[in-house]
Amino acid sequence: MAVAVAHPNIALVKYWGKRPGHGNVPATPSLSITLDGLTTRTRVDAAAEDSLEINGEGRQDAKVAGLIAALRERFVLPAMRITSCGNFPVGAGLASSASGFAALVTAVDETFSLGLSPSARAAWARRGSASAARSLFGGFVALDPDAGASAVLDRDEWPLEVVIAVTSDAVKAVSSTEGMERSRSTSPFYGAWMQSTATDFDEACRAIRLRDFEALADTAEHSCLKLHALMLSTRPGLLYWNAGTIDAIRAVRGLRGAGTPVFFTIDAGPQVKAVCLPAATTTVADRLRELSGVKRVMRVGLGAGARVVED
Ligand code: DP6
Repeated sequence: MAVAVAHPNIALVKYWGKRPGHGNVPATPSLSITLDGLTTRTRVDAAAEDSLEINGEGRQDAKVAGLIAALRERFVLPAMRITSCGNFPVGAGLASSASGFAALVTAVDETFSLGLSPSARAAWARRGSASAARSLFGGFVALDPDAGASAVLDRDEWPLEVVIAVTSDAVKAVSSTEGMERSRSTSPFYGAWMQSTATDFDEACRAIRLRDFEALADTAEHSCLKLHALMLSTRPGLLYWNAGTIDAIRAVRGLRGAGTPVFFTIDAGPQVKAVCLPAATTTVADRLRELSGVKRVMRVGLGAGARVVED
């Protein structure tokens, strides 16, 4: 048996839409930061029959079953018991599937001595959830549709911090998988999204290499708002925000306009993640905590990639 931990990641340049065909490959490149503090811990044991337990409850999960079936086409794997727990809500826009699949593949690799490299583990994790490929690595991480996931910059090289404003703990009504397929097939903006994303990706990579916070802030907010415009233009429209989300966006914009080094990003859910330089974190957390639509705030730094740990 082996135990692995992994952290979620949030994309600063988003992907939304898969390449046609098999393999769960995103259609466009994306760039993320891996978060510390939020952790999924997964244990895999050889067992008499397959089972899955998440946060103490027995579960059937088609994506987990599909990934294990795909691994069994390539490797001889016995039945296994998978036990996973996380210290944050699942399915509420905090990338629990990313840390979940990254930890799972890492634990399976170790338990059954598959000898996979981090990039190979990322490629397997991508089959479970595409953004999970990025959680194999720490700090700043790129996910290229052809080359796969790779580290761009170590977390110590630019230690940004993130304040997460949780505005709802409800599980989202439309999953990312379903939502992005709906956008691909119905949104009149999808072509423009596909064409413009490579530029965002290049700009963000340059900003990270130069540690240019303002340039990264501009590109990341643009990518986020463009993603949500794409979602809104889908039929039926995808609206992941609530009133607290908008208040938090306005608060971050207000701070940024007054010179505080902070920008926002939001995924397929209502939570607002405010990315800041460390000197601004307390100001940002205090401001977001004041908002009536914000249930609580979490402060996290940048995290390491998925790894095996002692039981
Ligand atoms: C908005 O990777 O969770 O967070 O592969 O279908 O599981 P599946 O989707 P997933 O979608 C992530 C969407 C996003 C943008 C991003 O992380 O780049």
